[in-house]
Amino acid sequence: MSCPRRRRERVEIAPRREGTERFAANSAAEGLGQPWGKLNQLSGALGAARLLGGGMRVLVACEFSGVVRRAFRARGHDAWSCDLLPAEDGSPFHLQGDVRDVLQDDWDLMIAHPPCTYLAGSGLHWNKRRPERAVLTEEALVFVQRLLDAPIPKIALENPIGCISTRIRKPDQIIQPWQFGHDASKATCLWLKGLEPLRPTRVLEGGKAARRGNQTPSGQNRLGPSPTRWKERSRTYCGIAETMAEQWG
Ligand SMILES: C[S@@+](CC[C@H](N)C(=O)[O-])C[C@H]1O[C@@H](n2cnc3c(N)ncnc32)[C@H](O)[C@@H]1O
Repeated sequence: MSCPRRRRERVEIAPRREGTERFAANSAAEGLGQPWGKLNQLSGALGAARLLGGGMRVLVACEFSGVVRRAFRARGHDAWSCDLLPAEDGSPFHLQGDVRDVLQDDWDLMIAHPPCTYLAGSGLHWNKRRPERAVLTEEALVFVQRLLDAPIPKIALENPIGCISTRIRKPDQIIQPWQFGHDASKATCLWLKGLEPLRPTRVLEGGKAARRGNQTPSGQNRLGPSPTRWKERSRTYCGIAETMAEQWG
């Protein structure tokens, strides 16, 4: 499955709450010549319009790519991505900063992609030999717990198989890109609150027995080392993002 080319998002003046004012928005938003103060003045009326329209206020936490944000916006939701990094697509609907500062901002749904560097099972064996790494794992677990405890009625948090399952709780489901039309293997756990598990939309032939396009014969990931490898590997598959928007939106 190939992902659609990035389309420029329709720029609407979206309701923002005070907490999000601290954040740097991307230059495209600044180009609108709309200071956030003015946006906030409009927020009451627009918030009501959003409710009438049935759209949700969606926070996509720890997302630089905009893949999930675009899938929800395309379905009429008021979706915002938030990451320490700028939005890769230059979207005005991106909050650059620490997501913990906006968790209280009246969201209906949060989809969170916290970093897995110190949580994934594949790296945990290093913790025995490197106590400083074990400390980072503990910090990462506190971050995950903070996201799961956010005062948001619907939450999905995704991460690879790792210590969230043993230290916090088991995931509600484990999905694979090949269940959503992508010739790729990457077990992804979902911890859900107020949401039903995702239903696979396009299961590729061969199921879990098949070797996928992103795997070497020994089952390793094909992407060689590079400074951008982590970005390529962490970007959400668009088939999964679209299914989230379709089934949870
Ligand atoms: C595994 S990547 C997720 C990428 C995502 N799937 C996407 O398609 O953009 C984790 C992201 O979390 C971001 N991050 C880490 N700590 C954060 C924080 N406190 N607030 C917001 N973003 C954070 C990192 O900058 C990184 O981009």
